[in-house]
Amino acid sequence: MLLSFRAHRAVCYSARRVMQKIQQSFQVRYSYPVVFTRRALSVENEALRAVLPPPGRSPHKALLVVDSGVEAARPGTVSGALDWARANSDVLVLAGEPLVVAGGEACKSRPELVERVHGLVRERGLCRQSFVWIIGGGAVLDACGYAAATAHRGMRVLRMPTTLLAQNDAGIGVKNGVNVLGRKNFVGTFAPPFAVVNDLDFLETLEPRDLRSGMAEAVKVAAIKDAGFFGWLHAERARLARFDSEALERLALRCAELHLEHIRSGDPFETGSSRPLDFGHWSAHGLEQATGGELRHGEAVAVGIALDSLYASRMGLLGAPEASMVLETLSDMGLSLFHPALESLDIPGALCEFQEHIGGELTITLPSGLGRKVEVHEVDASVMKECVRELARRAGGIEK
Ligand SMILES: NC(=O)c1ccc[n+]([C@@H]2O[C@H](COP(=O)([O-])OP(=O)(O)OC[C@H]3O[C@@H](n4cnc5c(N)ncnc54)[C@H](O)[C@@H]3O)[C@@H](O)[C@H]2O)c1
Ligand SMILES: [Zn+2]
Repeated sequence: MLLSFRAHRAVCYSARRVMQKIQQSFQVRYSYPVVFTRRALSVENEALRAVLPPPGRSPHKALLVVDSGVEAARPGTVSGALDWARANSDVLVLAGEPLVVAGGEACKSRPELVERVHGLVRERGLCRQSFVWIIGGGAVLDACGYAAATAHRGMRVLRMPTTLLAQNDAGIGVKNGVNVLGRKNFVGTFAPPFAVVNDLDFLETLEPRDLRSGMAEAVKVAAIKDAGFFGWLHAERARLARFDSEALERLALRCAELHLEHIRSGDPFETGSSRPLDFGHWSAHGLEQATGGELRHGEAVAVGIALDSLYASRMGLLGAPEASMVLETLSDMGLSLFHPALESLDIPGALCEFQEHIGGELTITLPSGLGRKVEVHEVDASVMKECVRELARRAGGIEK
């Protein structure tokens, strides 16, 4: 009886004290190299070896994943990686056969790919400090990066991006993701890589549309962040349209620098509502979903940039000559500025999905002069619809 009386007082006492609060707070510092090189898998090239940590008592273990599109276009990539690993077996050993996976957007919608990577990590006894070494385009990096980030709650990822878009954007940042429930990148994590090695030689076998896709992301970041770079892209658009390798290299490097600078100085894990690097992306994601991956990400982004540049111009944020320069740069690079699916795009619905994904208030980044940006929180759907019609007219040749 006495015992239960004491217990009761204790309950009353704790109920009177509203709460006990312990404020947890810590910072985690991230640092990873992004290296540009050529012939990265050659045993004479030190780049890959240099980004790996010194081995402990035994060499690091790795699961090698290769995009089948890369192996098809450049036979010998898998064997080159195996030779590299053999020559550097004091630092890295491959745990079993490489996994060659079908590349392209479709791989992000296949849950079995993520399960396969998880299964191999378990079967081959890889630990959290082992590497998942991924050679491929942005889609394979996103899907397998997601698998690596969730196995053991996060393994080390060594990325070797093989497309222009992956070398200057998708493969160098802190995100991964897969398409679930019909939504692009609905499931994914923020997980900085251990290291990124960009081998520019991979660009030699890319299809023209994939080279142009990477250029679209460069136009995007230049238009809102770097007037000088934008001026260069505009001036060199003919050389870029011919895929001049020196011009492509310069584009890749500056675009990567701008993306990395933004991640470093901005909001790397996107806790706020704004995502400046997604200029042109709200409609691009809608188009990618509507066309079932028929459009490459960068191709959809080009349409999105054109649309939002026209909108910015109509709203008095960007001068008409500057908006024309953006459209001209993209179009002269060989990118299409319209897709029929744009006409049936549900503008409020696509904006709402974009807002839901980023969280908080709707925030769209628009150029406010070349190399500068402004954030808007409302979009006039009727003006946007008029911009869609203008792009359709231009594509139909009625207006240039
Ligand atoms: N995580 C991020 O921060 C981020 C940022 C931007 C884009 N992305 C994602 O990246 C994806 C697009 O990536 P992408 O543009 O690299 O395209 P992709 O990965 O879809 O690859 C396009 C095609 O090129 C092939 N390929 C890859 N490398 C090749 C090479 N060297 N030679 C010949 N063929 C090659 C692939 O097999 C594929 O068929 C989208 O899913 C997009 O959402 C992610
Ligand atoms: Zn993009």
